[in-house]
Amino acid sequence: MNDLINEINRLKKEKNAVILAHNYQIPEIQDLADFVGDSLGLSQQAAKTEAEIIVFCGVHFMAETASIISPDKKVLIPDLQAGCSLASTIDAEQLKKWKEEHPDYIVVSYVNTTAEVKAESDYCVTSSNAINVIKAIPSDKKILFLPDKFLGMYVSTITGRKMEIWNGSCHVHEKIGDVSFEEVRKIHPDAEFLIHPECGCSSSCMLKSQLYFDCKNIHIYSTEGMIKYVMNSNAKEFVIATEIGILHRLKKIKPDAKFYPLSENSICEYMKMITPKKLYDSLLYEKFEVKVENDIAEKARLPIERMLSIT
Ligand code: 13P
Ligand code: SF4
Repeated sequence: MNDLINEINRLKKEKNAVILAHNYQIPEIQDLADFVGDSLGLSQQAAKTEAEIIVFCGVHFMAETASIISPDKKVLIPDLQAGCSLASTIDAEQLKKWKEEHPDYIVVSYVNTTAEVKAESDYCVTSSNAINVIKAIPSDKKILFLPDKFLGMYVSTITGRKMEIWNGSCHVHEKIGDVSFEEVRKIHPDAEFLIHPECGCSSSCMLKSQLYFDCKNIHIYSTEGMIKYVMNSNAKEFVIATEIGILHRLKKIKPDAKFYPLSENSICEYMKMITPKKLYDSLLYEKFEVKVENDIAEKARLPIERMLSIT
């Protein structure tokens, strides 16, 4: 393993490459990366890096976004099969048809979408800036939010903005909604609850927390929002409702705290496809390049840049 790590680091220097890894990557990949973060942080790093090659250890739409923002860089993903069930819930043809039937709507797309869907959108959002982006859209405009229904409902509740919401969801986060939140609160009464807005439970938790009990220890955050919260908190116990890959980084930040996943089964098999060996091959053979056709990339760049400027 050490030889592999040394070779990855050698190749990275030799080829002037940067390794970006999402918070859900396996620990070995997170430890090899130059930057670990959420979708927004990784897009920002891709936009500002001076490296010639970006090796994206995440899922395909994230590498695509990096390639759209930095078209002069070579963007690689170590496994082309690393997709996203949420991004698959809508394609460009479906969106075009919807727009034809509703021509007066502004389309706000979660970053978990293909480049073709982004190209048909007006704004892009990630889970950490969705509220700010929606607030920045004039209140007389009608909005279609896609594709995640739980994030959409959460953003709509917080901003008070009525929106049409696509009926999409992520298979990992949707299932977290099956876990009895109240039961876990009984087991860990002193814990802070950090919940990703893609979770099936996020909107109901939020509403319950507002209606039934004081909501001091329930927080809805993107993955990077969770990291920042833990960094600045004096709490010693946290229940985490998102993909369990994030626990590695959280434990590194606060080794003396206890972290409990709301559900042990919250594993994104796509995120786990990237391994150190595939990362090594990716750097060595410069595979698999993720490139977006020029006309699609040009159209998709606009909603992404709007998002980055509002953030
Ligand atoms: P974040 O933007 O919070 O990292 O979420 C991305 C994602 O795919 C969640 O499933
Ligand atoms: Fe997509 Fe869900 Fe995996 Fe995130 S956790 S990459 S939304 S399938």
